Amino acid sequence: STTEPEIRKGLAGVVADTTAISKVNPESNSLLYRGYPVQELAARCSFEEVAWLLWHGELPTPAELAGLQEAERAQRALAPQVRAVVDAIPTAAHPMDVLRTAVSLVGALDPTAADSSREAEVAASVRLLAQIPAIVAYDQRRRRGQDVVEPRDDLDLAANLLHMTFGEVPDDVVVDAFRVSLVLYAEHSFNASTFTARVVTSTLSDLYSAVVAAIGALKGPLHGGANEAVMHVFDQIGSADRAEEWLDRALGEKRKIMGFGHRVYKHGDSRVPTMKAALDRLVEHYGRQDLAELYDRLEAAMVARKSIRPNLDYPSGPAYHLMGFDTATFTPLFVAARVTGWTAHVMEQRAANSLIRPLSAYVGPEERHLP
Ligand code: SDX
Repeated sequence: STTEPEIRKGLAGVVADTTAISKVNPESNSLLYRGYPVQELAARCSFEEVAWLLWHGELPTPAELAGLQEAERAQRALAPQVRAVVDAIPTAAHPMDVLRTAVSLVGALDPTAADSSREAEVAASVRLLAQIPAIVAYDQRRRRGQDVVEPRDDLDLAANLLHMTFGEVPDDVVVDAFRVSLVLYAEHSFNASTFTARVVTSTLSDLYSAVVAAIGALKGPLHGGANEAVMHVFDQIGSADRAEEWLDRALGEKRKIMGFGHRVYKHGDSRVPTMKAALDRLVEHYGRQDLAELYDRLEAAMVARKSIRPNLDYPSGPAYHLMGFDTATFTPLFVAARVTGWTAHVMEQRAANSLIRPLSAYVGPEERHLP
């Protein structure tokens, strides 16, 4: 026939399914989790409350929140097998590879991993919520030659992750900026890693397999790997006065500027103002106005040259740097947050499943035969 199928490269603009979990509205620059503006959640809710909201559709009652906290806090310690596997991975490997491997083992050690009932999948989601921060913290410490820090069950998830990474709970302004980043990173509709998780789930595979695959998708610098890449850019530029020159050269070489642009938002990312405000508080706290100047100069130059605005990874990268995280740990922190959205989507996909299997338009050789 003469009618060519319409191909949407990168599935751009394709509506693949419905979701009740979040709504991204690029026209109004807004993001709702289960109907609530993310800015309100970031201002007023713990990360655990947001996790519950994403999974269950409503904010938890006090009793429900207490139950979640108890279950999460009880599962923060790593099994000796998980520590041993992390220890066996050379530190030359990227922390995302370590996390992907360790999460896979957490799944293999869970005797209920094959149970795809909603109850079992909520339980597995809570387990990952608790285990991922412990893996991330353990890996950064071993890379620094530091001893493991045991979890504290009197701390919420955000404060405990910082405690397990640094051996102390930092000032409130730091804990709060970290909590804000987790809330903002938690969920964003059919982004590449979430869609990956849904594809895996659609084959009736298990939740852990979906999360492992999603970690692989998030690692790339066009997606979650950008928060790490932003910090490399800041390191390369060095100081604010060199921002324009660096940018002109990078754009001249047709390079993508990490932390800028977005597939859905064309007038700026709804989450950036909230995270930038948290970054500003960290800049003040640590006395690092030099970093803020570089941030502003590069953003202004990018907007002037290309009219392309920052995405959430632009303020998050420097914020995690100021908190003291190693640059290679930034994307694992994104995983610690996004695992909530991924698992909410796994359960939503499961509840109304259809195998995800699109078509392709063949452009290879015509039929031919062996000589
Ligand atoms: C995340 O989908 C989500 O929701 C993702 C996320 C989430 O919460 O899950 O928000 C998290 O992944 C944020 C994005 C992190 N990635 C980066 O910061 C990497 C740098 N940005 C890009 O490469 C780019 O902007 C993408 C990948 C994010 C989006 O790219 P698209 O939609 O495929 O658009 P495109 O690459 O086709 O760009 C359109 C135009 C091009 O110019 P022309 O060829 O038309 O002249 O804009 C230019 C691009 O060259 N452009 C950029 C640019 N982003 C777009 N040019 C330089 N630097 C950039 N960052």
